[in-house]
Amino acid sequence: MTNETVLDALKSVTYPGFTKDIVTFGFVKDVKMEGDKVSLTVDITSSAEEVKAQIVKEATEALKAVGFLAIEVNIKAPQAPKEMSNSQSGKNIAPHVKNFIMVSSGKGGVGKSTTSVNLAIAMAMQGKKVGLLDADIYGPNIPRMMGLHGVKPEIQGNKVEPLKAYGVEIMSMGSLMDDGKSLIWRGSMIMKAIEQFLRDILWSELDVLVIDMPPGTGDAQLTLAQSVPVTAGIVVTTPQQVSLDDSKRSLDMFEKLHIPIAGVVENMSGFICPSCDTESDIFGMGTSKEVASAYNAELIAQVPIEPAIRVGGDTGQPITFHQPDSETAKRYHTAASNLLAFIDKVNAEGGADNSSVQPTTPPGVSACSTGAGASQAPAQSGGGCGCH
Ligand SMILES: Nc1ncnc2c1ncn2[C@@H]1O[C@H](COP(=O)(O)OP(=O)(O)OP(=O)(O)O)[C@@H](O)[C@H]1O
Ligand SMILES: [Mg+2]
Repeated sequence: MTNETVLDALKSVTYPGFTKDIVTFGFVKDVKMEGDKVSLTVDITSSAEEVKAQIVKEATEALKAVGFLAIEVNIKAPQAPKEMSNSQSGKNIAPHVKNFIMVSSGKGGVGKSTTSVNLAIAMAMQGKKVGLLDADIYGPNIPRMMGLHGVKPEIQGNKVEPLKAYGVEIMSMGSLMDDGKSLIWRGSMIMKAIEQFLRDILWSELDVLVIDMPPGTGDAQLTLAQSVPVTAGIVVTTPQQVSLDDSKRSLDMFEKLHIPIAGVVENMSGFICPSCDTESDIFGMGTSKEVASAYNAELIAQVPIEPAIRVGGDTGQPITFHQPDSETAKRYHTAASNLLAFIDKVNAEGGADNSSVQPTTPPGVSACSTGAGASQAPAQSGGGCGCH
């Protein structure tokens, strides 16, 4: 048997996820033969265990088929990128952030951004290192609500410094785009943007990153859940039935994405009259309790309709910071400390884990790389399909 015999046999082993074989890619090195013994090295570009295992299995079978009896297939692969932090498993492209909180809602306009802003500030006031990521790419409101409207971040090489206000680090598409410009983007661009917000923003070693989501259950939510282990999911709803119906979809999404549900914030829950301070029931009150308990979740806050909340949002003077003694600020503080306790509990029980929601193709191998576009060698690392 000759070198040719070995290489010919190995031409039947395609590189997982691609149409080309490992010989054509030039991955086969150091072939040594002695009688019916053969050893070789396959020098690959992926660190995925599944890729390695598949190559070893297929190469061994191919060499057995041509008569070798003792076969040693060594795999040389790059080190897997260190993407995990201590208490978390699965994929984490922002490992210097300890915990991620996803703020979602089924319906638009129910107060996600308001909740995100006030909870982030409350946690920062309670001594945590907090970031606030505006993942609402089409409708970024966080800069205005945090008093940063029109402020541009500093660029450091190909990374971006987060802005800072009220003790919170902040990033938003609104801070990167010109005022009033609209974005018309495909889903795949939204996914890239979310990834870049996690990877290319110079977040500090944050205790928590609060992520204000667009409404609904779409690409942004899935990408986030696959990119980082989300420690806590919060659903914001208003008390009316139509909003509650939609919030069930968000709770269901958290369950499907294996995101621990911290609870429900019932926003616009009653009205506090600015002149007499009495609380009256406009949209209903307490109706979210039943929905929350159907998903074993807590009602972590009931925040009333209060003109000062809206004014705080519009003027960039959030109520939790500027009126810390108000009833509403106190409710945000209570919700924030409950949320922090929930995060501690999740971490004590082993932490968030997004390994079961990863794409089905091995890391580093694109789902669409098996087709016509697969003529080049695979990239060194990173998932995602760049072809559409
Ligand atoms: N409890 C409240 N009392 C008074 N006004 C509120 C309250 N909660 C939110 N608002 C106001 O309602 C409007 C919508 O709130 P917000 O932008 O936070 O909702 P959203 O869910 O983030 O919306 P979108 O789905 O568009 O992102 C804002 O003007 C905000 O200031
Ligand atoms: Mg919003």
